[in-house]
Amino acid sequence: MKPYVVTIDGPSGSGKGSLALRLAKELGFHILDSGAIYRLAALHAINKQISLEDEQQVLNSLEDLDIHFESGDELIIPFLNGEDVSLQIRSEEAGGAASMVASYPLIRTHLLTIQRDFFQPPGLVADGRDMGTVVFPDAKIKIYLHASAEIRAKRRYNQLINMGLSANIADLLEEIEARDERDRNRAISPLVPASDALIVDCSMMDRDQVFDLMMEHIKDQQ
Ligand code: C5P
Repeated sequence: MKPYVVTIDGPSGSGKGSLALRLAKELGFHILDSGAIYRLAALHAINKQISLEDEQQVLNSLEDLDIHFESGDELIIPFLNGEDVSLQIRSEEAGGAASMVASYPLIRTHLLTIQRDFFQPPGLVADGRDMGTVVFPDAKIKIYLHASAEIRAKRRYNQLINMGLSANIADLLEEIEARDERDRNRAISPLVPASDALIVDCSMMDRDQVFDLMMEHIKDQQ
């Protein structure tokens, strides 16, 4: 079969990441975690003590951005300049910094080629905000995963508690809503479903139900 792309877009905490990983494994496809690319770009600029307020300086800092990913059992491990930065890029701070860097047109354009290069045979599952609208507009299968902000804050809270970290659900909700607002209302590549995407509200679904539904949808499109 001809290689193809499956895009999964949606707000942070909707479960895109784990769904994308599971689909990629099942299909034997490559995976693109585009949020991790923005997080790595932000971390790289922060490490160089660049002000994230300055779009041009952030862009200049990316000239020597050296990133790659390695597959772990349950996750993909991001490397920045040869160093495993899984923990650093997963913090709420890194998420906020990524969201800021991601609002700059020059940065988005710069990171386009890097993202498109992930599409290699036999195919790709791409997870992000604008995978189906901008990065892979010709993708064969497009999914938009939605879940209410309250449910996403609760899931994130449980995740942090299970990791032995402290968390406050009201703060998490506030952060999620602020990030949604920024992602949805930015001028370039805002978070919107592609016109040809299947929109799935997974607020009341568990991971297995979402995965089964997606696999059925993918099979129907063959
Ligand atoms: O998905 P994740 O939470 O890791 O993404 C971090 C931030 O990167 C998001 O809040 C969003 O602002 C930005 N992002 C984006 N476009 C993508 C993926 C992520 O703007 N395709």
